[in-house]
Amino acid sequence: MAIEMGGFSNVPEDDIQIGRVIEASCTPEDMDIEFSLRPKVLSEYIGQEKVKENMRIYIEAAKKRNEPLDHVLLYGPPGLGKTTLAGIIANEMGVNIKITSGPAIEKPGSLASILTTLKDGDVLFIDEIHRLSRQVEEVLYPAMEDYSLDIMIGKGPDAQSIRIDLPHFTLIGATTRAGQLTGPLRDRFGVIERLELYTHQQLCEIIMRSAVILGIPTLKDGAMELARRSRGTPRIANRLLKRTRDFAEIKGNGQINQELADLALNCLEIDEIGLDSLDRRMLTMIIKGYNGGPVGLETLASALGEESVTLEDVCEPYLMQLGFIARTPRGRTATALAYKHLGIETNSDGQQTLI
Ligand code: ADE
Repeated sequence: MAIEMGGFSNVPEDDIQIGRVIEASCTPEDMDIEFSLRPKVLSEYIGQEKVKENMRIYIEAAKKRNEPLDHVLLYGPPGLGKTTLAGIIANEMGVNIKITSGPAIEKPGSLASILTTLKDGDVLFIDEIHRLSRQVEEVLYPAMEDYSLDIMIGKGPDAQSIRIDLPHFTLIGATTRAGQLTGPLRDRFGVIERLELYTHQQLCEIIMRSAVILGIPTLKDGAMELARRSRGTPRIANRLLKRTRDFAEIKGNGQINQELADLALNCLEIDEIGLDSLDRRMLTMIIKGYNGGPVGLETLASALGEESVTLEDVCEPYLMQLGFIARTPRGRTATALAYKHLGIETNSDGQQTLI
């Protein structure tokens, strides 16, 4: 299987967010590590059992009929392995994959040139597919539906439309925001799968697997400590493994155990359940700044000086899974669990006090 990393070099620089250790968006360093750690077949991929079970059937059926796989949309929070899964699907189908992203495909012509270089059965992976421009999206509709491209030649009254046949490819789209996809685009995917946050046990297995590949001596209790504090996300788990290795080599004997993992994560200001300073600031702002909520996302983002997408895509999925915040039609509210975690109590007259 050949892998071509199409347009990542064209991703605008401010789309690559660097900073928080538990930021789930992909940094250039992550891309290198992720590539070396990526499982190549479904049986090596840990977790997402339902998605794997379904994909196994679709892949086997397509292969049996000697047809390309139907177009697949993968959605869910960042860092859960959508690109990895796309690579596995291509590998299991025995075809090549070309990898690009929504913002990298700037013009309809760029998409046309990518599509015309594909071969029958190939996979085109478009990350952040919700960020395709409307004009590019319109080129994609006939390409997905009829494997054809409508191209305008010339301008004005002499302009002519010609139709070009395309290879029978499979589009795999990935998005953190399925709700932002237009109806016509969503309707053209035959398979739509949601990726879920991982359990501690699954993350522990992923960390142990990565530790073996990277040659980092790691005890199970150390891996479990990292897993508990990786907010359900393999990308974060692998990043924390690498940072903890540095602490183990400088402050310990090179081996990651529970004590060392705890030391490293405390230094990184990641608390015992994986919250970092931004999560805690967000919860504190809802509780102390807005009396527990409800408060609108945009208001909250500007009060914190953060992008609302960061709060929505990175903080919220985990805080909601923990049951620390709830979404209401009037905005976000903090739950009793969040108050308890931060050690803030509400007394009888509605004032918050430190426990
Ligand atoms: N590395 C990152 N995600 C993984 C997964 N789901 N299974 C195995 N290794 C991984």
